[in-house]
Amino acid sequence: MKFLRQKILEQRKSLPIAAVEKRLVEEVRNNHTLIIVGETGSGKTTQLPQYLFKAGFCRDVKLVGVTQPRRVAAVTVAKRVAEESGVQLGQRVGYSVRFDDMTCGSTRIKYMTDGLLLREALLDPRLSRYSVIVVDEAHERTVHTDVLLGLLKNVQKARSQSANELAGRANSNNDTNLEKDNGVQMASPPKQGQVAKLPPLRLIIMSASLDARIFSEYFGGAKAVHVQGRQFPVDVFYTLHAETDYVEAAMVTIFQIHLEEAPGDILVFLTGQEEIESVEGLVRDKLPQLPEGNRNMVTVPIYASLPSEQQMKAFMPAPDGFRKVILATNIAETSVTIPGIKYVVDPGVVKARNYNPRTGIESLNIIPTSKAQALQRSGRAGREGPGKCFRLYTEREFEKLADSTVPEIKRCNLSNVILQLKALGIDDIIGFDFMEKPSRMAIVKSLEELFLLGALTEEYKLSDPIGNQMAKLPLDPIYSKALILSSQFNCLEEMLIAVSMLSVESIFFTPREKQEEARTAVKRFSSPEGDHITLINVYRSCDEFLESGNANSSKEKTFKNMKKWCKENFVNGRSLRHARDVHSQIRDHVKQMGLRIASCGEDMLLFRRCLAASFFLNAALKQPDGTYRALASSQMVQIHPTSVLFRAKPDCIIFNELVRTNQNYIRDVTRIDPMWLTELAPHFYARQD
Ligand code: CDP
Ligand code: MG
Repeated sequence: MKFLRQKILEQRKSLPIAAVEKRLVEEVRNNHTLIIVGETGSGKTTQLPQYLFKAGFCRDVKLVGVTQPRRVAAVTVAKRVAEESGVQLGQRVGYSVRFDDMTCGSTRIKYMTDGLLLREALLDPRLSRYSVIVVDEAHERTVHTDVLLGLLKNVQKARSQSANELAGRANSNNDTNLEKDNGVQMASPPKQGQVAKLPPLRLIIMSASLDARIFSEYFGGAKAVHVQGRQFPVDVFYTLHAETDYVEAAMVTIFQIHLEEAPGDILVFLTGQEEIESVEGLVRDKLPQLPEGNRNMVTVPIYASLPSEQQMKAFMPAPDGFRKVILATNIAETSVTIPGIKYVVDPGVVKARNYNPRTGIESLNIIPTSKAQALQRSGRAGREGPGKCFRLYTEREFEKLADSTVPEIKRCNLSNVILQLKALGIDDIIGFDFMEKPSRMAIVKSLEELFLLGALTEEYKLSDPIGNQMAKLPLDPIYSKALILSSQFNCLEEMLIAVSMLSVESIFFTPREKQEEARTAVKRFSSPEGDHITLINVYRSCDEFLESGNANSSKEKTFKNMKKWCKENFVNGRSLRHARDVHSQIRDHVKQMGLRIASCGEDMLLFRRCLAASFFLNAALKQPDGTYRALASSQMVQIHPTSVLFRAKPDCIIFNELVRTNQNYIRDVTRIDPMWLTELAPHFYARQD
């Protein structure tokens, strides 16, 4: 154990950022807003919060909060930092992400998602528990980061005003309520009837890309400092011809590296859980075909929705003499740094949200990365020594890539953030000081959508109780609406399960070589009414199975049983476990809100009517040629082949999401009666035929 601590200490000292610890702490003392730019892996995320703690920024029970765009990053980094500080995770160092809180009253360094901090602001608008907020990975420009920066600007203003007023009062009264300590202003506990006295909020924006200018300009010329990184040369290879199937190409490349290149781990960038799991399966099947001495390779996945206890596996070294292949989404681009990587396989694609404000449709598309992303990815191979990056596309294609990625706020549905801003009392959305303004059309469309869902009044104010309730739930507005409505339809039990199952990726697991078997297994659960009820059936069957076992069986036993059940039924165990987690958390939320939790029993008609009443914006009608027309947008769409209604093709359906690959596919589909739409959503459908 001693040895391990020593080793960790040495590692920490050798990070590029360690050389500038004093200077960084000084800069934070002297600047209320500071921008820190440093190459990925230089130690920004793990070290800076520890430096700040050491320097006294957490005195007076204040926290250093660090936001991450991704939950995996928040969780894994918090674990690492707890380990480095020699404390138990959840005590001094903790994390909090949606549906998973590992903090306590004595937590001082708190890693969280940017979305979570936005939610905290609803309860504590001045973020009074924090002395410092670090907005990490700001270059990612997720919609939550952008909105958070706007909000933090306001909070900073509010808190320095209150601090100034206090300072003024303190001077004139010769009162020593405020003492200066290490540059952190400290206040004594508030007296009754007084507004809490708060030190100014320090804000640190950290980014991996070199473009600090936009952040600096947005924060009135805030100071930027650069942390020099260390980077070894990386040889970049392109394909000679365009690849038609990048998954296949990635497979071939992984095995080529394994058979021909020197030892060192491989990092492969894929687009999502499904793809990662399919490559995992393919590698597993192919390994036994290799010559005896060459089978020393293991794969580990890492992606956003991976249960946190499994995320850490990616960081563990492979067994002696084995090569580790990390199958990752773009989360491994900058958010997490995994040691030991020497080879990068980059198919050059990423799954991204896209929003068309004209039709109001948000979709998930697989699109080419930007040049900046490609460079970040290849850089991951040169952290510890010279490396190689295999780009699975041609050099000419690289030249054609866009320089950088469009901020997410410009390509997503804004209903979610607008609802939150409204709940924070920010009514003028178009006038809000966004770092980069979304188009007026996108704002108007989202306002309209929230109005149609009943969250806003005709004056576009938050409605009571619906809008208020919707803002409290940590879900997409449409899911929140479905839950609220379902308590009136007597089917909140069912809707809770449906929403939890829809919140995770791919419940069914279809190995390429066992497609027939998997299809038969799905049939056991499938409902002729559609995917929502099918998902409920899966959830409940698993519950029944677990309950039929010994009620007193240990946690490990239950875990094992569930794993076995999932395997036999071609259900994705990781996803189902995640869904069960989500379920218990949302259940607590709706209980707290006082919604009536009831079940519709056998009467699934009620449940489907409730779906129609909530998802009416996602209704589609069958066309003579068997495709569908989405009613709200008039887009032509098709039922995804994984849907249980793919063959049945009912006349009228609602769907959960639209995914664009080579086709417009709708996923998670349920049969409804078209008359329900005019009956249950007359404000939208009465004017149409
Ligand atoms: O934030 P930045 O990209 O500058 O670096 P970091 O995430 O703080 O990582 C610094 C070092 O910690 C790297 O060498 C990582 O390999 C290591 N690290 C780790 O071993 N395990 C983690 N869970 C996170 C980081
Ligand atoms: Mg970082």
